Amino acid sequence: MNLLILGGTAVLGRAVATHALARGYAVTCAARGSAPAPAGCTFVPVDRDDVDGLAPVADRRWDAVVDLSRDPRHVARAVNDLDPAHWVLVSTANVYARFDSPEQAEASPTLAPLEHLDDAADYGRAKVTCEASVRGARASSTVIRSGLIGGPGDTTGRSGYYPWRFAHPTGADVVVPDAPDMPVAMIDVDDLATWIVDVAQRRLHGVYNATGTTTTLREALRISAEAARSAATPLWVDPLTLAEAGVAPWMGEASLPLWIDDPTWRWFATLNTTAARAAGLATRPLSATIARALAYERSRAVLHGRSPDRAGLSDDDERRVRALALGGARGR
Ligand SMILES: NC(=O)c1ccc[n+]([C@@H]2O[C@H](COP(=O)([O-])OP(=O)(O)OC[C@H]3O[C@@H](n4cnc5c(N)ncnc54)[C@H](OP(=O)(O)O)[C@@H]3O)[C@@H](O)[C@H]2O)c1
Repeated sequence: MNLLILGGTAVLGRAVATHALARGYAVTCAARGSAPAPAGCTFVPVDRDDVDGLAPVADRRWDAVVDLSRDPRHVARAVNDLDPAHWVLVSTANVYARFDSPEQAEASPTLAPLEHLDDAADYGRAKVTCEASVRGARASSTVIRSGLIGGPGDTTGRSGYYPWRFAHPTGADVVVPDAPDMPVAMIDVDDLATWIVDVAQRRLHGVYNATGTTTTLREALRISAEAARSAATPLWVDPLTLAEAGVAPWMGEASLPLWIDDPTWRWFATLNTTAARAAGLATRPLSATIARALAYERSRAVLHGRSPDRAGLSDDDERRVRALALGGARGR
């Protein structure tokens, strides 16, 4: 099978390429080359911001194209310029219009489409437009609405922060948001990549949610402490104190991940994945992904230190938030 990956130089694209190579497929990765594609692929430099940027890969018929872009113009041009036997678009759960109720399914309402992605906050709307382009293509297509992707290579730190923090506590406890029942789910990057290669080969047609089994923040923290073999306990800090301390939810600098302090997003991690599972999606337990994320965090920390823009709190921030929480008697 001749597989073209539009991307292949970042975490998920690299994993897709690696799994496809392991199956003996001929894999071409087309990207600008911000990082290398896996050894064994043919790498073709392209810049999709250019109108004819895909010309170097448009002269042959691919058995499948996997597109990882979030830019509607990139995807529209790809559908216009390429004519594969099958498309796979990696989309996102963020396309859904609401998360104030559980279990969004594929037929649930989506956001209004958006033609140009200028603001990262419009990511979900941009992916709605990307989906429409691929679904309008001549060929069959799999649109995969992924939940949070975790495990090795998670450069955002969302899957690796808590196990890493339990392994490197700044006290007898670990600062966590007081939202123990917050639903949590993530899909291991290699489970998603395996399934992407699988659906590309089978030419599975349709739209599918893909994420791991939903659990709670309490359980995710227990798993994280266990992975770190840590005796530290969670210090549940209420969201008001966290806001006062300048701690953001979900991701980025000085944040606490796997937590969204907004009732309209509460059920984000409860996607209905019945259709994907019936179509062969298999996901490993969260404990395995967390253990892999911890190993990745450890290897990264050795090489680069822990960069401040990754999710989580620095040692100093964690000490400061703990002092504020205990001083205000808001911990419990
Ligand atoms: N992370 C999550 O938790 C999560 C959750 C749901 C869905 N998703 C989706 O999962 C996918 C993740 O993909 P990924 O890990 O491979 O990372 P990514 O950062 O989303 O991938 C972007 C890829 O596109 C390439 N690219 C970007 N701009 C380009 C341009 N102008 N011309 C050509 N290539 C360009 C990049 O390579 P170069 O920089 O080398 O060009 C890179 O290989 C995305 O579709 C994302 O929306 C992610």
